[in-house]
Amino acid sequence: MPQQMTARLPSIRLTSSLYQVQVQGIGLGLELCGFAPLYARHGTSGSDSDTPAPTPNTRQEKPNRTSLRMITQWGNRFAPSQMSPPTLLPTHQDAIVADQSGNLAISTTVPLPEIRSDEILIKTTAVAINPSDVKLTGQMAAPAAIAGSDCAGIVVAVGEIAQERFKVGDRVCAPTVPMDPLNPLSGAFAEYVPLVADFALKVPKTLPLEHAAALGTGVATIGYALFRSLCIPGHPEKKAMEPATVLVWGGSSATGTMAIQLIRRSGCIPITACSPKNFALVKSRGAEKAFDYHDSECAAQIKAYTGNALDFALDCVCDAQSMQACYAAIGRAGGSYTTLEPYHQKLHTRKRIRPDWILGIALFGREIGWKDPYHVEADAELRDFGRRWFQCVQSLLDRGEIQPHPVRIGNEVGFEGVMKGITLMKQKTVSGEKLVYRLKDTR
Ligand SMILES: NC(=O)c1ccc[n+]([C@@H]2O[C@H](COP(=O)([O-])OP(=O)(O)OC[C@H]3O[C@@H](n4cnc5c(N)ncnc54)[C@H](OP(=O)(O)O)[C@@H]3O)[C@@H](O)[C@H]2O)c1
Repeated sequence: MPQQMTARLPSIRLTSSLYQVQVQGIGLGLELCGFAPLYARHGTSGSDSDTPAPTPNTRQEKPNRTSLRMITQWGNRFAPSQMSPPTLLPTHQDAIVADQSGNLAISTTVPLPEIRSDEILIKTTAVAINPSDVKLTGQMAAPAAIAGSDCAGIVVAVGEIAQERFKVGDRVCAPTVPMDPLNPLSGAFAEYVPLVADFALKVPKTLPLEHAAALGTGVATIGYALFRSLCIPGHPEKKAMEPATVLVWGGSSATGTMAIQLIRRSGCIPITACSPKNFALVKSRGAEKAFDYHDSECAAQIKAYTGNALDFALDCVCDAQSMQACYAAIGRAGGSYTTLEPYHQKLHTRKRIRPDWILGIALFGREIGWKDPYHVEADAELRDFGRRWFQCVQSLLDRGEIQPHPVRIGNEVGFEGVMKGITLMKQKTVSGEKLVYRLKDTR
C-alpha cells in the first residue's frame, strides 16, 4: 500500500477486516479523482485527532461526474443515473457502531453505505430507540456494524427499481436491520441509511418525521405477529366476520400500542395488561379493557372477563412471567401464543396452546447474520408477505388510520443524545412512550 494512502486512512480502531477493505477502496478512489474524504468532525471515539475537521464548505462542495464515476468504480453503487438531481454525498459519516468488545461508540469515520437497485438512501432526520439497541451489544454485537432499528428522513438517492415509488426529497420512515455482520452499514443510527424500498413508508405531510421514526419496527413486528404467526381473524383490509378477543400483554409498550390498533382495525377486540397510569393510552388506541399486571390475580381476571375462552395472546413483554400469565389467561380449549423473543421450552406448559416467536425484521426476506437463536435465513415467501403488509400499512398511514407510539423527543440532538437514550432504555425507565432523537444538523 502506498505510504500516502496509509496516512490518509481514517481511524480503524472500530473496524473489522471487511470494513477496512471498504474504507481503503473508497479512500483510494477518491485520492485518484482528487475528492478529499471527510475525516473526523468532532472528537469522539474512533476519530483521528491528527486530521483537521473539514469546514462546512467541504460538505457542500458539488462533486463532478468524475468523482461519481470513481466512487462507483471503487465499489460504491451510486451511479449518476440513479441520482436525479445529482446530490452531493460525503464519503464518510458519523454513526453509532460497536467496538471490538461489543460496546457502542460514536465513530466519525464510517463509510457511506451502498444502495442496491431496490433500495433508497436517506439523510436521517430522527431515530427512535428500541430494546434491541441494548440487546444487540456485547456478545450479540458485530464489531464495526451500525446500531439502530428505526429512522426517518429525506431521500437523497434512489436505486433503479426503487424509482417506481420514491424520488429524491421524499419524506420516509422505515425499520432497518442493525448490527448485521452481513450488512454492517444498514443500521439506523447513522447520518445516511440505506432502506429497502418495499419496507419504507412515505410519511404524510401532517406527520412530523420525529413521530414517524417510531413506526417502522412496530409495524413490521406486529404485522408479522398478528397476521402470519397468531393468524387472528380479519385484517385491516378485510374486517373479521366474527370478532375474536386478542390479549396484548404489555399494551403500553411500543409494540403493544401498535398491536392494539391493528387488532381493532381488523375487526377484533383488543384487551391488554399494563400499568394503570397507561390505561388511558391503551384505551385511546382501541383497547376494550385494560388490566393491571401488578395484580397477582391479573391473569385470572382476564380469564374471567373472557369467559375462559380466550384464543389469542400476543406477548410484548417476553419474559418468563409474561409467558406464564398469557398461558394462564388463554381459555380452556387452548389457543395461540406469540411472543417477540425466544422462549424457554419448559414454559410451554399447556399442550393445547401453540407457541411461536417471531422477529419482525425477518419480513425483509434477507439473511441476517445475527448469532443464534436470532439468525435469519433468506425467505422469498416471507418477503412477499412483508411487501404486501407494508403496502397495507402505507394505505393506513395515508388515511390517518395508524398512529405511532407517543414520542418523547430528546433535548440533546445528535448521536450523543442517542447514546443517552440507549442508556435510558437499558435502565428500563421507558413507559408508554418511544424515545426519539433528532440528528444534529436537522433543527
Ligand atoms: N421480535 C421482534 O422483532 C421485536 C421487535 C420489537 C420489540 N421486540 C421485543 O419486544 C419487547 C417490547 O419491545 P417494545 O419496544 O415494545 O418495548 P417498550 O416500549 O420499551 O416497553 C416498555 C413498556 O413495557 C411495559 N412493561 C414492562 N414490564 C411489563 C410487564 N411485566 N407486564 C406488562 N407490561 C410491562 C411497560 O408498561 P407500563 O409502563 O405500563 O408498566 C412499558 O410501557 C422487548 O423485549 C423487545 O426486545 C421484539
